[in-house]
Amino acid sequence: MSLLEAAALSKHFGGLAAVDRLDLRVEAGEIRGLIGPNGSGKTTFLNLVSGVLPPSSGRVVFRGQCLVGRPPHAIARMGIARTYQVPRIFRGLTVLEHVLVARATYQPLSLVPILLGTRGARQEEARLRAEAEEILQLVRLWDARDQPGEILPHGLKRLLEVGRALALAPVLVLLDEPAAGMIEREVLLLMRLIQKIRSQGATVLLVEHNMPLVMSVADRVTVLDFGRKIAEGSPEEVQRDPAVLEAYLGRGDGPA
Ligand SMILES: Nc1ncnc2c1ncn2[C@@H]1O[C@H](COP(=O)(O)OP(=O)(O)OP(=O)(O)O)[C@@H](O)[C@H]1O
Ligand SMILES: [Mg+2]
Repeated sequence: MSLLEAAALSKHFGGLAAVDRLDLRVEAGEIRGLIGPNGSGKTTFLNLVSGVLPPSSGRVVFRGQCLVGRPPHAIARMGIARTYQVPRIFRGLTVLEHVLVARATYQPLSLVPILLGTRGARQEEARLRAEAEEILQLVRLWDARDQPGEILPHGLKRLLEVGRALALAPVLVLLDEPAAGMIEREVLLLMRLIQKIRSQGATVLLVEHNMPLVMSVADRVTVLDFGRKIAEGSPEEVQRDPAVLEAYLGRGDGPA
């Protein structure tokens, strides 16, 4: 059984099929690249998997359980975390607080012991803080932990998004163009981070336009065009697939 399985999955916006009868399986432990020209349905697919949008038809099954109809927080609790194409940074929260808040949404804390200030609550708080600090070290934002999230440079905001996703201790991590706007050094950091996420046992689905990144980090790559899968295989295979070249050349935002 695949970790994630989309079967005949479709999403229509009026007359437009953003995702069109898509069959896609992601195996446990892999780093899967998901690429395609602008508007090919990559983000829509992530929205369908994470419960942000309901599909028009078809199924998404995760660890044998159908996700259709479940709200995003329920899907997050099942072990699917994601980042957004536009980082979600909250005004007034420090970098550390962003990670703490993400953790708390995953596992709502009972307010009563906190209000009573019990020892259990203090221990719980210390544990959550230690976990958040560990994540910040992993995404290399430890030094920035007490800065407001909103003042981070763009690339570091994206790393913070990845950190927030990791706070959910996910089984599957969906990354929507994490390298967009990153400088070369940050992309390198991101690449190591993605490899580390996998080495810690999670599976990664990486939507990306940065071809050197996808091609060096992904085990397999799936290519979408107009909501359909036009190619799938190793990075080498998809790069020389005529259908892929055609799809990109047609729009002028090439894969290589
Ligand atoms: N909420 C929406 N309402 C109407 N149309 C939408 C909506 N979301 C996406 N679309 C359309 O669906 C198609 C797929 O969009 P999607 O954002 O999934 O593409 P993408 O592959 O993520 O593109 P990009 O690489 O530019 O991020 C596009 O034509 C887009 O305009
Ligand atoms: Mg997108």
